[in-house]
Amino acid sequence: MTERTHKTIEQAQAEGKYIRTVRSFVKREGRLTKGQAHAMENHWQDIGLSHQDGMIDVNAVFGNDNPLVLEIGFGMGKSLVEMANNAPELNYIGVEVHRPGVGACIATAVEQEVKNLRVYEHDAIEILADCIPDGSLSTVQLFFPDPWHKKKHHKRRIVKPEFVETIRQKLKVGGVFHMATDWENYAECMLEDMQSAPGYKNLSENNDYVPRPDSRPLTKFENRGQKLGHGVWDLQFEKVN
Ligand SMILES: C[S@@+](CC[C@H](N)C(=O)[O-])C[C@H]1O[C@@H](n2cnc3c(N)ncnc32)[C@H](O)[C@@H]1O
Repeated sequence: MTERTHKTIEQAQAEGKYIRTVRSFVKREGRLTKGQAHAMENHWQDIGLSHQDGMIDVNAVFGNDNPLVLEIGFGMGKSLVEMANNAPELNYIGVEVHRPGVGACIATAVEQEVKNLRVYEHDAIEILADCIPDGSLSTVQLFFPDPWHKKKHHKRRIVKPEFVETIRQKLKVGGVFHMATDWENYAECMLEDMQSAPGYKNLSENNDYVPRPDSRPLTKFENRGQKLGHGVWDLQFEKVN
């Protein structure tokens, strides 16, 4: 094992190291609306979490030890805020790289006075590695991750064997990894990766997909997909060891 001496890829690159990395996103430089910018300026200190602060103390962050749900790539955060609002007995952490989405999520959380939600504006891969303690999560949600349709881009898909193993490490025993996608080929790949990963049990009765749980609100992408006649596939796997 090589020792990890750099906190982030950016730091390593700044020090002149060449690190080959394939990311699951391309950073879009969208402008923030006035509302999003206002939310970032005035409420980041209450809702935002920073990668540079390192490993979090979950009890200190939320002031309780309620079960913790992590959502990766929450987009504009509408469904994440709705879920947090509907389940005050749970704690939620969202991770998203798209700044306007983070601003929108904070604005909605403030508007709805949601207290059990914190967000990172950062790459979830680095947040998992540097900020989330092993065995700390009750649920990981990954809804409609970028499908990277073209075969030559499949390596950019976030779901792959090493990601699945990282999620397993971060889940508690009995915790659930919940994915949803409207891209059939991605659903099939997710299923294959999950079935061949050790330490998970499929919660599907047929050993493939589960019906959409009521707890998952319709997202913008799902809504759009449904109008286009796409199917949606939900997968839920429990960590057994
Ligand atoms: C197709 S969108 C889906 C958004 C939302 N879940 C929904 O269903 O409406 C995928 C989102 O994942 C985010 N994303 C992709 N890779 C990420 C990563 N490594 N860390 C954090 N966010 C990521 C993108 O910025 C984008 O907002």
